[in-house]
Amino acid sequence: MKRTENKRKSLFIVDDNLTNLNIARDILSKKYNVITIPSALKMFEMLNKTIPDIILLDIEMPEMNGYDAIKLLKDDDRYKSIPVIFITVRGDSASELAGLALGAVDYISKPFAPQLLAKRIEIHATLESQKEQLKEYNDNLTEMVSEKVKEVMGLQDTIISTIAELMECRELTTNGHIFRTQKYLKIFLEVLGKNEMYKDEVGRWRIDEIVQSCRLHDLGKIAIRDSVLKKTSKLTHEEFEEIKSHAAYGVEMIDKIERNSGNDAFLEHARIFAGTHHEKWDGTGYPEGLKGEEIPLQGRLMAIADVYDALISERPYKKAFPHGEAVRIIEEGSGTYFDPNLVDVFLMLQDDFKNASIERVDAPQFTHFTTTPPPPPPPPPPPIKKGAEKKKKNI
Ligand SMILES: [Fe+2]
Ligand SMILES: [Fe+2]
Repeated sequence: MKRTENKRKSLFIVDDNLTNLNIARDILSKKYNVITIPSALKMFEMLNKTIPDIILLDIEMPEMNGYDAIKLLKDDDRYKSIPVIFITVRGDSASELAGLALGAVDYISKPFAPQLLAKRIEIHATLESQKEQLKEYNDNLTEMVSEKVKEVMGLQDTIISTIAELMECRELTTNGHIFRTQKYLKIFLEVLGKNEMYKDEVGRWRIDEIVQSCRLHDLGKIAIRDSVLKKTSKLTHEEFEEIKSHAAYGVEMIDKIERNSGNDAFLEHARIFAGTHHEKWDGTGYPEGLKGEEIPLQGRLMAIADVYDALISERPYKKAFPHGEAVRIIEEGSGTYFDPNLVDVFLMLQDDFKNASIERVDAPQFTHFTTTPPPPPPPPPPPIKKGAEKKKKNI
């Protein structure tokens, strides 16, 4: 039940003495909506119908005294925020202290001095109005902040999607890789959040944030030359080294964004994904050659998701492996390439990975950006006519 929304504040005056009730009502009813109640039990009945802004409560009453009544009020979530003012003939400071200790906001002695009573109630009524205004202001602020957060998240999501699509378009050969690896990561995290070994770390992450940030794991590929990134034949050693540099470039780019926009958990995850998804459990990966649990969990997870997707996808230099073969290769890499505990989790989840891998992937929308496929290999030379070779040699 909501508190009374009238501008005039409403008061309960609870006292078993009818004369006191009438005096208090006469003093206060000019400014407030006053309800006089002859006992604490009746007050609780009345509270089921309406919630006042302030309760004036006598201490000495039959059936239930004021101290017991305030304890019940303060124990009940519906009523505990209603300010209670004790009205009593007990003028000693011990009684006053006892009342305030139980949660009363004030203590007014009887018999009432009319002007003093009116003034004291006015102070508490003003305080109540200010509390309500502050609450309203806070509610509005919270609403505005959550709206803004939603807006920023939406904008962030759009920008990340756009970058991811641009990256896919540029590479041409990995259609859907970013979308799928994101789904694999989500599958992992849903299970690891309940796993004894990982739940503490994963529990500290916001799943939507980390899942979104993993889309930037190959961001550094933007810095790789087209001639290397789109090369369909075997890469030279130098070219492979250039491809490998995408991990360090990714970190550099995200660091730069962070320097301009401030620290942010999303960027922190993105930097870790970009910089560690090619590290290997045995320390032979790149760019840092991190080993075992030196590799952050994000990187160890993305290593499996990334390789699984590369294995089941067709690339210019290889055919797509069937799911079972990809699983076998990952199992084989347990403890060398990959975190063995996470490989066990992957094996348990392999059907989910398979289902996620075959879901339809929308083609990137920026097809105009790179509609030109890599140049076809030159046509084979015409067959040399008999005798021509000899003739050539003679030249
Ligand atoms: Fe990569
Ligand atoms: Fe990747």
